Amino acid sequence: MRFDVLTLFPEMFPGYLGQSLLKLAIERGLVDVRLHNIRDWAEGKHRNVDDRPFGGGPGMVLMVEPVIKCIEAVQAQASPPGHLVMLTPTGRRLNQAVIEQLATKDRITLLCGRYEGFDERIRLLTQPDEISIGDFVLNGGEVAAMVVIDAVIRLVPGVLGDEESSKQDSFSGEDRLLEFPQYTRPREFHGLAVPDVLLGGNHQEIARWRRQESEKRTAERLKPPKLKH
Ligand code: 6GU
Repeated sequence: MRFDVLTLFPEMFPGYLGQSLLKLAIERGLVDVRLHNIRDWAEGKHRNVDDRPFGGGPGMVLMVEPVIKCIEAVQAQASPPGHLVMLTPTGRRLNQAVIEQLATKDRITLLCGRYEGFDERIRLLTQPDEISIGDFVLNGGEVAAMVVIDAVIRLVPGVLGDEESSKQDSFSGEDRLLEFPQYTRPREFHGLAVPDVLLGGNHQEIARWRRQESEKRTAERLKPPKLKH
């Protein structure tokens, strides 16, 4: 799976890309992340990429010309072009179902905004899949792009090693339940013991207990509870 990231701050990514799971996936050729600096497509002595909004108001707006040139150059590198995602607080809200949709793509182009937003014509001309990671405002789309990459690569075959592992994640599987509580050694810590059922070796009973705990947590923490039955 290939990601092309279009950003004014490519230097934000190498630390993230060097972390163990992602680094290994990149080394194995399962994931490829290419960074593109939007400023490389800007014209003039100052290579400006932002300007004041028509009509007035605070802040700066990302200019249509360098962004469109950058998108066109990157999309021309593959046919069919990558699925174009625009990271913006006004987009559709990201959740695990959206991540599953994105994971079906061979190639994703992630467009990161900064400042007060994009010139509207960028959206009109490219009709991107606009995505927000939640109802709050970030200083730019870069951290959101890392969130998308991080969640999508868990679903790329071979990345986790154990393919069952992502199926057990919270919000995954057909009921989208929260994950059950997990325990490891020691068997007791500060008076808190591991539930007996997990030590008994009865796999059917363990599965039943885990299902119950997942349902309980989901009902308590997610409104409205989304339970089958
Ligand atoms: Cl994708 N971008 C920005 N700038 N702020 C956000 C966001 C994205 N998602 C939530 N807030």
